[in-house]
Amino acid sequence: MTPDPKRRSLLFGAALSPLATPMLMGAATADTEAGPSNAIDLSHAYPFYGPGPQAGIATAPQRHVVYMTFDLTSENPRDLQVLLARWSASIAQIMKGEPISKVDPDRPDAGALDTGEALDLGPASLTVTVGLGPDLFEKTGLQAHRPAGLRPLKHLPGDALTPEISGGDLSLQACADDPQVAYHAIRVLARLAKSTGTASTRYAVMGFGRASAGKGQATPRNLLGFRDGTRNITSDADREAFVWTDEPGWGKGGSYQVMRKISMFIESWDTDQIDDQNAVFGRFKVSGAPLTGTQEFDTPDFTAQGPHGPVIPANSHISLAAHEHNDGLKILRRSYNYTDGINALGMLDAGLLFLSYQNTPEAFERLQTRLGAADRLNDYISHVASGVFYIPPAPAEGSYIGAQMFG
Ligand code: HEM
Repeated sequence: MTPDPKRRSLLFGAALSPLATPMLMGAATADTEAGPSNAIDLSHAYPFYGPGPQAGIATAPQRHVVYMTFDLTSENPRDLQVLLARWSASIAQIMKGEPISKVDPDRPDAGALDTGEALDLGPASLTVTVGLGPDLFEKTGLQAHRPAGLRPLKHLPGDALTPEISGGDLSLQACADDPQVAYHAIRVLARLAKSTGTASTRYAVMGFGRASAGKGQATPRNLLGFRDGTRNITSDADREAFVWTDEPGWGKGGSYQVMRKISMFIESWDTDQIDDQNAVFGRFKVSGAPLTGTQEFDTPDFTAQGPHGPVIPANSHISLAAHEHNDGLKILRRSYNYTDGINALGMLDAGLLFLSYQNTPEAFERLQTRLGAADRLNDYISHVASGVFYIPPAPAEGSYIGAQMFG
């Protein structure tokens, strides 16, 4: 279908600065084939301040992510307090599409806090979500404030974790519809952490082509070519029941973030025939429908029998992960595809930056215990990195993340 230029300018033109428009015209395709739910408006900004949870969890997933974790280099709680305050003020600024500092025209010889590469790009729906790691509280003497469920994940079946790219004391998840806007956010925040002597960078993953659908979005595809996010949490009721915590005190209404870097054996997958790939997931590759249905959103019938047993194999990914087989348990998935180029063997080095949000890390552990032990998908993936972080609620305007911890 040919795009109607009038309709396009109605949808996207009105609120844009002249500088943002050329970029947008290159990026926005979605009011044509894919439907308005995939539209990108690079002038759109989300608020950072609360009340409510931090942005970047229930927010409809943007196209790109830069995810970075940090190690504390100071165990002085005052340093952490200053860093969280400076990060919060800076994030509020860059989520509006504004630099964290302006260049002083009278001081061209001075250095600038903001690095400049996102000037004129617009907010691009940037969200920066700040997480606190399990060891941070003991290290800084704040153990009285550690959220009850926050501890390193237990060893799970299928773990092949590399310690250097796992764990961390702080996490930043920057999502935006422009990758340079997301990268800029992480870059200036990492610079602040380093310049205050409070935290150093630990590892980073850059993700693209969101691999999870949010409310109102068309379902994207992961690098195995399957629609991902068809049965994800999209309702407030499910978020209340499964995502937001009921921690007493300062952390109430936050969430636990689990990060898994899951490498895919892409070359091997690509030689597999489609009906086997369908059986791995329990869904049809092209339509996304369960093997017992014809439409993507048909409810899977796990009881339907074929000549060789259940139509949706019991060891398929969706059969093992479905809430019907896990005492009603659900998690919110917010994953992205990633690539690190080519590995030492000359193979494509790519996979899923799996990010999930739940009201206890145990929810993830329960699902991964089943998947890691029996999932047919395990022939094609390997969990190479892992992290767990508490995501405090958003601060009120004028305050900062975790302020209550510091009395
Ligand atoms: C590379 C790794 C993974 C890939 C490629 C993958 C892909 C998929 C796909 C294609 C679906 C079906 C569409 C949908 O409903 O979203 C799905 C469903 C699901 N996945 Fe994964 N997934 C991976 C890892 C995980 C992990 C580690 C977990 C949790 C421990 C998980 C939990 C789920 C859940 C809960 C569902 C929904 C099942 C249902 O209710 O039907 N996935 N995944």
